Amino acid sequence: MTQEEALEILKAGHNVYLTGAAGTGKTYLLNEYIQFLKAEKIGVAVTASTGIAATHLAGLTIHSWAGIGVERFASDVDIKMMAANRRVAKRFAETDVLIIDEISMLDADRLNLVERVARIAKGNWKPFGGIQIVLCGDFFQLPPVAKEGEPPPRFAYHSSAWKELDLKICYLHEQYRQGDQKFFNILNAIRQARVDNFVISNLQARRNAKLANKEVTKLYSHNVDVDAENIKELNRLPGKEMHYKMEASGVPAIVKLLKGGCLAPEILTVKKGAKVMFVKNNFEKGYVNGTLGSVVGFNDWGYPIVATFNGQEISASPETWNVEENGKVLAKITQVPLRLAWAITIHKSQGMTLDAAEINLAEAFEKGMGYVALSRVRSLNGIKLIDFNEMALQVHPEILAYDKELQQRSEEARLKFYSLPSKYKKFKTEGNVKAYSVNEIRKFYPAAYQKWSLEEERNLVDSFKEGAKIKVIAKNLGRKSGAIRSRLKKLGLIKNQRFEK
Ligand SMILES: Nc1ncnc2c1ncn2[C@@H]1O[C@H](COP(=O)(O)OP(=O)(O)OP(=O)(O)O)[C@@H](O)[C@H]1O
Ligand SMILES: [Mg+2]
Repeated sequence: MTQEEALEILKAGHNVYLTGAAGTGKTYLLNEYIQFLKAEKIGVAVTASTGIAATHLAGLTIHSWAGIGVERFASDVDIKMMAANRRVAKRFAETDVLIIDEISMLDADRLNLVERVARIAKGNWKPFGGIQIVLCGDFFQLPPVAKEGEPPPRFAYHSSAWKELDLKICYLHEQYRQGDQKFFNILNAIRQARVDNFVISNLQARRNAKLANKEVTKLYSHNVDVDAENIKELNRLPGKEMHYKMEASGVPAIVKLLKGGCLAPEILTVKKGAKVMFVKNNFEKGYVNGTLGSVVGFNDWGYPIVATFNGQEISASPETWNVEENGKVLAKITQVPLRLAWAITIHKSQGMTLDAAEINLAEAFEKGMGYVALSRVRSLNGIKLIDFNEMALQVHPEILAYDKELQQRSEEARLKFYSLPSKYKKFKTEGNVKAYSVNEIRKFYPAAYQKWSLEEERNLVDSFKEGAKIKVIAKNLGRKSGAIRSRLKKLGLIKNQRFEK
């Protein structure tokens, strides 16, 4: 399926699992959909399974957004408590579309918890309380992290929540990261567990290969190797060390999450000549998350000047990462948006695009790790492979069968969707998801989404007190019945019946 086709299906309001190989533009497409929803003033919650993946989309982790914390299992009473949390209840009330990226790393039990909280918080017994759910990711990449003392995690698609969603599958097939067809074939062979002579010989040819690229990122499976490598390289440089301390303010728990998800360190130490990577997007200044360069000096305020590898010089002044809710900043951190970038972990590299990498898979400890590492790079010529162990090129065997099903269901969804009369493609006319084009909605409800005037509100109160049916009031006021009920609740004229069943 193309990105355009998938976007149409998303806009139609279906619950969707957006998948496809690394680099097919899943996250790119999510961003497009998020922009669309924001422009249409539709409540969208942007989350991901890990803090780092969430920062890529300027969102929260699903755990903190849905208020499930670190829980993996919870009683009905716990679920009610979670849903009753004021912040969580408000979030759900304002959400029509929930997006979760990097779903491969979210385990089935936690997805079930989110689903239960959603139903209670929305006071609606449909799956996830009737919110449009967009799950995104690729199960050939990294699986949920196993925690000591817990039963082994299962992929999210084993959950009852997943099964009840009646997900339309959108499987993207066009490759945007790798233009090189041979490399694309190699990566696909690894995905399909066909690591044959063709794959091995091509990878062997990249063993200790000389890279034409001036700057190369080293990828390791373990943090200790990354830190050691970066410090070793920094110490090799002659100049003076410069230190930058992160500033933080706001709700402590959210500050902690922001710090955990932020790729810039709490204390950044650089020197002239240090290899660095920008860890935030700033299109105006000319860098994005992943832009590489080296420190060539310091400006008048003492901030690093970075020469990027595409020939620009950029002053890296501090940036802010924050979590907002309804325009109010809950927590923020400020730091120079750089990290040392001679080396990073493969976990951190997930979601990134790199021009060149030196990859060490000698201690790969998770299926999918080799696939994630190799697929970060744009071309085979950009890879220097140090070593790989037996685990490195494996993918999870259970995914293979499921992947076939996903591809088939995606094709079915595409054919079915495109045979629909165009009026059904514009916006969803049935179900509980808010119709997507405000202009379309206003054909039926002229006052939809307009601010309530005092006069209208009086009209509403009078009609209600006189015993008029909600449907009738809605018709008279040109609004949807749901909007009338919400207003009445807000005015305290009807009770929120969420917990009374
Ligand atoms: N339609 C597009 N036009 C231009 N560039 C695109 C498009 N789609 C994706 N890209 C670019 O291709 C690269 C890979 O895209 P993206 O990171 O969204 O892929 P992904 O499917 O999310 O990969 P991963 O599974 O690794 O997270 C990025 O550099 C992105 O900006
Ligand atoms: Mg992505």
